[in-house]
Amino acid sequence: SFHPDYILRITYQNISQGCQSRTSVVVNGTSPGPELRIPAGRTSWIRVYNDMEQDNTTIHWHGLAQRMAPFADGTPTASQWPIPPKRYFDYEVRPLKDEAGTYFYHSHVGFQAVSCAGPLIVEDAGPPPYDYDEERIVMLTDYFNKTDHTIESGLVGVPFTWSGETNAVLINGVGVSIGEKAGNGSCQLPVINVDPGKTYRMRFIGATALSMTQFAIVGHDNFTIVEADGHYTQPHSEKFMQLSTGQRFDVIFKAKSQEELGNTTDYLIQMQTKDRPAVYNGYGVLRYSGGQSSITTGPAKPPITLTNATYNWAEYAFEPLYPNDFPTAAEVTRHLEIDSRQVLTHTDIWRMNGLQWNETSSPYPGDTPYLVQIYEKGPSAIPNYTAALANEGWDPYTLTFPAKIGEVIEIIWYNTGSLVMNNGGQDYHPFHAHGGHYYDIGSGNGTYNATENEQKLEGFNPVLRDTTNLYRYTSVTTAGNKLGWRGWRIRVTDPGVWMIHCHILQHMIMGMQSVWVMGDFAQVANVPPTDIQDYLVYGGDVNGNDTH
Ligand code: C2O
Ligand code: CU
Repeated sequence: SFHPDYILRITYQNISQGCQSRTSVVVNGTSPGPELRIPAGRTSWIRVYNDMEQDNTTIHWHGLAQRMAPFADGTPTASQWPIPPKRYFDYEVRPLKDEAGTYFYHSHVGFQAVSCAGPLIVEDAGPPPYDYDEERIVMLTDYFNKTDHTIESGLVGVPFTWSGETNAVLINGVGVSIGEKAGNGSCQLPVINVDPGKTYRMRFIGATALSMTQFAIVGHDNFTIVEADGHYTQPHSEKFMQLSTGQRFDVIFKAKSQEELGNTTDYLIQMQTKDRPAVYNGYGVLRYSGGQSSITTGPAKPPITLTNATYNWAEYAFEPLYPNDFPTAAEVTRHLEIDSRQVLTHTDIWRMNGLQWNETSSPYPGDTPYLVQIYEKGPSAIPNYTAALANEGWDPYTLTFPAKIGEVIEIIWYNTGSLVMNNGGQDYHPFHAHGGHYYDIGSGNGTYNATENEQKLEGFNPVLRDTTNLYRYTSVTTAGNKLGWRGWRIRVTDPGVWMIHCHILQHMIMGMQSVWVMGDFAQVANVPPTDIQDYLVYGGDVNGNDTH
């Protein structure tokens, strides 16, 4: 009989967070949900029950390539039917041999991922390349004191209603909302416990809905980053961390020795959100064992001065630990520029080369997911490549970006915003790719200059990433727009339906998503789900008597 490696139950219930309470979508009763640990190089089966009364859900394995398993990528309307209430879906989660590292899982429906998320660790097959004694997970999420439904309907409503800024950035689910005071009853600062003298692998997970967060610890200014987005890097040190939504960094962190500590065993953790109109200052405690806890509440003013120039943090800094087949400019077969901008029409939306897409945008009857449509209808459901090339990369009928296996696509993302906020302003956008990872070739103010950037890449080997940022750049064009860019190179290797989108949940709902169909029909059809009958009809087995 069939035994999944993990069972996740998704419920909608009242939970206490940020010193307040909210009805939230949670996993196995908590937010974040349980930590999942799966081995690299083999398939794990994860069964997801939708125990909610009214809402659909899916789970996405954020950062995993899901090579040969596009049907289990968890994107509603793109790769699968959303799981209806009271049904389940069996996900085949297939980390590659070289995907050991830090990931997370989250719902891909609406605003659910604000709370419906948890850490996903892919374990090294052998000894990890860096030494450490223990691990700590530092998962950051946002807390909004409004329900998902209120936020969602405001974002697509006429008139448009903004969600508001974050109330709190939580560490592993714990934190203090603006206006609340830590130290009262169950309203406590988040704590990371360590032992003197030990070395930790800190797994930072940026799972916020909106916030880009800088993270520093008083008296501890050496964060040695050894992994970015699930790929080992050569060591790179920063004085503090910066995480946007969707990014992960693994850090080798040396705790102070008993002698270095003296009598001080509590150190303030300081978090500050960036590149948004409002700054949230949040606090926590790095607490050494064997002492007296002395910090119970945050200070009136943040003690550490953190940089405002977010776009300089660890740019052109990460090189791979193992050879990664970085494609040179000469290997690029297609250069594509994608302009992101805010458009204020009947409501407020975000467009990429004129395209606005969210999970209600499928052109097929009943919002049939693209991948289901391909399996059912055959070659006619594959987007028109020629039409797409003539239309800034996307096919106007299917509203998808087609790509051929073997292409090496260079994408330059542009962040264009008017200085006049009412004409569409500039925001930061953490762009995230599903499926195979991309080589991040850098970022900058103004217009991308290939010659200049190639000089920066001389003797420098970019790493594979899955989430990097368009920032709020400072240059202004003669037309009066703020402008900046980010560059990626992608080797198209994995057939399937994969998404590339801004990872800010609000922006996703406002249309800042794109669906990519990679491969021709024969290539996509060559990787069918194990249980194709169930897959085509629903998110999973309807009667609960599945026999894999
Ligand atoms: Cu974590 Cu499509 O995203
Ligand atoms: Cu965005």
